[in-house]
Amino acid sequence: MTQNEGAAQDELKEALPTGTHISPGIERIQEINREALAHPNEFWSKVAGDLYFSERVGPAFERIEDAPYGRWFSQWKTNLSYNCLDRWIGTDHQHRVAFHWEGEPGDQRSLTYLDLYREVNRFASILRDLGVKEGDRVTVYMPMIPEAVFAMMATVRLGAIHSVVFGGFTAQALADRINDSKSKVVVTADGGWRRGKIVELKKIVDQAVLQTPEVQKVLVVRRTGQPVDMDEDRDLWYHDAVKSAADYVAPVMVPGTHPSYILYTSGTTGKPKGACHSTAGYMVWLYYSTHAVFDITPRDLYWCTADIGWVTGHSYIIYGPTLRGATSFMYEGAADFPAWDRWWDMIQRHRVSILYTSPTAIRGFIKQGEKWPEKHDLSSLRIIGSVGEPINPEAWQWYYRHIGANRCTIVDTWWQTETGGILIAPQPGVAKYPLKPGSATFPLAGVKAVVVDDHGNPCPKGEKGFMTIQHPWPGQFMTLWGDHARYKQVYFSRFPGIYYAADFSMQDQDGYFWLLGRADEVMKVAGHRISTTEIEDALIMHPAVAESAVIGRKDEIKMEVPVACVILKPGFAPTPQLREELLVHVRNTMGPIAVPAQIYFVEKVPKTRSAKIMRRLIRDVVEERPLGDVTTLEDETSIEEAKRAYNELKADIDRART
Ligand code: PRX
Repeated sequence: MTQNEGAAQDELKEALPTGTHISPGIERIQEINREALAHPNEFWSKVAGDLYFSERVGPAFERIEDAPYGRWFSQWKTNLSYNCLDRWIGTDHQHRVAFHWEGEPGDQRSLTYLDLYREVNRFASILRDLGVKEGDRVTVYMPMIPEAVFAMMATVRLGAIHSVVFGGFTAQALADRINDSKSKVVVTADGGWRRGKIVELKKIVDQAVLQTPEVQKVLVVRRTGQPVDMDEDRDLWYHDAVKSAADYVAPVMVPGTHPSYILYTSGTTGKPKGACHSTAGYMVWLYYSTHAVFDITPRDLYWCTADIGWVTGHSYIIYGPTLRGATSFMYEGAADFPAWDRWWDMIQRHRVSILYTSPTAIRGFIKQGEKWPEKHDLSSLRIIGSVGEPINPEAWQWYYRHIGANRCTIVDTWWQTETGGILIAPQPGVAKYPLKPGSATFPLAGVKAVVVDDHGNPCPKGEKGFMTIQHPWPGQFMTLWGDHARYKQVYFSRFPGIYYAADFSMQDQDGYFWLLGRADEVMKVAGHRISTTEIEDALIMHPAVAESAVIGRKDEIKMEVPVACVILKPGFAPTPQLREELLVHVRNTMGPIAVPAQIYFVEKVPKTRSAKIMRRLIRDVVEERPLGDVTTLEDETSIEEAKRAYNELKADIDRART
């Protein structure tokens, strides 16, 4: 039992029923899981039966010979936007609100399903006029405004493929993603509001497109109203284009395995990976998981606080809730604007009943104190969720008590950009069972989650190992854009034939899953996924840097923050000015979320004999711990070598600290 788990279980005695061994609820979800695994075709065909397909030919699931991933609904034909929108038109549902939206300055908009349907059709008409057709890529670089939803849904309506880039990324990061996806159209806004200031998105696009020869058109939504440069040949205003847009554009029915989108995410190398999702498998997974986990009813107002630039926004703001016909709330800006009770105020005013957020946000609120939520009536809430990183039991308890008033169900949901949707989480929409603070509990239908040791053998209960998924599931991503070999190598070669999630995990004696953080060189900084190598690559581009090693240091609120050890080239002095310059350099190359919390100038970076950076050892030094277990440092690095490296680095860093 881990320390966390011990603490969690003590706390549990206070808050929740114990004696969890096997409850009828657990038996029920395990039974459904087994059924979906035993009969994937029947199970997922039945789920897909609620959705519209223009053709249903062939099996729902095909195993690909010698490949550990499946093909879902490959000969069926459908359209994602049709299922999110057209399916409701002409029914009792069409006048129900799809999104209540609030901008950071306090402006509000509400769109019914009929409104959203009209706007998406018009947006699709504009994109079509700009030459976008089936299979083309459209990059979306937008603030959290309704037009971002229109842009994404309009793209998939045309059978085109969107690549949404998070609005916090820099011009360089945006240009790299536009070029990798070869997008010919970019959708953006003049700006977005963040903490009372304007994020100048159009300006960043202007810089990015200097490096993206294939971009033909930039469509600009007016949000903030500040002056922006418009290139006469390339740029056009959405509010102008929409005047002549058609009210209806027929949705393009595409095969189930047609890509719906690319979403770039960090891996262990410097180059971001374009996770590419299917149309039908992804859709069916969201349709199923949104119900199982969030149990949204017509009485609910559901709010997912993620940004549309991340997978959580794609799956559980845009597609999952609209596939279920839910009414969602959407917010543009910062949690602390104008004060730290902005969220609680909005929950009270709009009567939000389901809240889905991140442990980082919760820890941020804990730091500000209970006084902020206490000022508001949060009694409308009934389900509160968490995603993006392990939720520590203390944060879980605070969330349970101070936001959930000791009565809301907490759904701690484990999944990844690659998985398309939630894989492990409590499922109040299917069955109820006791929770344990810090555990994501049990897998959803058809998720064969197995914790394995180094050799791929299942770990005994209570032992930490690697999370693997040993059977394809419908939401599984299909490939890495333009690099199928890398897809196979990164995800399916460590344990041949099964999906390697690169997370540590443990199953306790009651069978509950505990997700224990990344097992690779990826950090989770305030829930954002950042590769250590990507920051190293950014640092090395600076003329003063000879070499660098980046690690994630524990942080009370953000979980981890990057810390860099930097070796300077001869002739450069380790001055505070240079440190500042390097920080600015990383900010300009990768964006604010990647900026190191600390840079140490060192003489040497500890490495194994085969030149792999010894990150665990660096973490020990940076977090001021004695040298940990070195027996598993690869590469036969001897204990003496590791000790020497530790002492040298410690001396360097101690010097830098003084
Ligand atoms: O380490 C896990 C962590 O987030 C990683 C996936 O990050 P990303 O692709 O950015 O997707 C985040 C939103 C789905 C995972 O490998 N993670 C996500 N949710 C949890 C989690 N770790 C523990 N508990 C969770 N509930």
